[in-house]
Amino acid sequence: MTDWITRWQIGRIGWHRESVHSKLIEFIDYLKLHPGDTVFVPLCGKSNDMYYLLERGFKVIGVELSELAIVQFFEEHNLNYSIQKIDQFSIYRGDNITLYCGDYFELNSELLESVSAVYDRAALVALPIDLRAKYAQHLYSIISNGCRVLLLTLNYPQSQMGGPPYAVNKDEVVSLFSKGFECQQLQCFNDIENEPKFLRAGVEFIEKATYCLQKTGE
Ligand SMILES: C[S@@+](CC[C@H](N)C(=O)[O-])C[C@H]1O[C@@H](n2cnc3c(N)ncnc32)[C@H](O)[C@@H]1O
Repeated sequence: MTDWITRWQIGRIGWHRESVHSKLIEFIDYLKLHPGDTVFVPLCGKSNDMYYLLERGFKVIGVELSELAIVQFFEEHNLNYSIQKIDQFSIYRGDNITLYCGDYFELNSELLESVSAVYDRAALVALPIDLRAKYAQHLYSIISNGCRVLLLTLNYPQSQMGGPPYAVNKDEVVSLFSKGFECQQLQCFNDIENEPKFLRAGVEFIEKATYCLQKTGE
């Protein structure tokens, strides 16, 4: 955890993108959102995808360890915010957006009662294998039945490069979400040509996949 905080302090945030993720734009309809619905963005960083969701008329709830990331999000978008401290979270509230500064694993279902959908980009794949199982179980326990999840993952030969981001293949996604979720892979393609860091390291392929999950509760 301290490693993430340090990364934010020294600006080692190579995962951050100025543009909106093309897969969010391409696949957002799978979330079957209505205007005013709330999207939960776990391990949100200062993702500009959250701003895109706000602009589309949705509400956003995020959770992020780094206070710096949260403050930068509000300041870079010129959004006003208030701060409230409750238990283990500092809660940053702006118009239609609430970002919990603290540990994802401390969130509970009451805090996410209003959530209709989840957008996971670089959250599951940011975690090492033991935490990925805990992440999926915790997600199950904090979202409501019927809630949909748009999940983006990466898969590459882990022996050829270390994470994060960690390699997560389809078998692992299916297994992680086998209890209580329906899981559909929407897309999967090799994008090694557009990943110079992986190319330089001699990694043979990097598959980028998009999934739509739905919590069935069964
Ligand atoms: C790889 S970044 C992805 C950020 C964002 N999803 C994006 O697409 O730009 C992972 C983020 O998760 C945060 N993080 C890691 N572990 C966390 C935890 N247990 N609870 C909350 N945030 C966490 C890190 O500080 C970091 O900003």
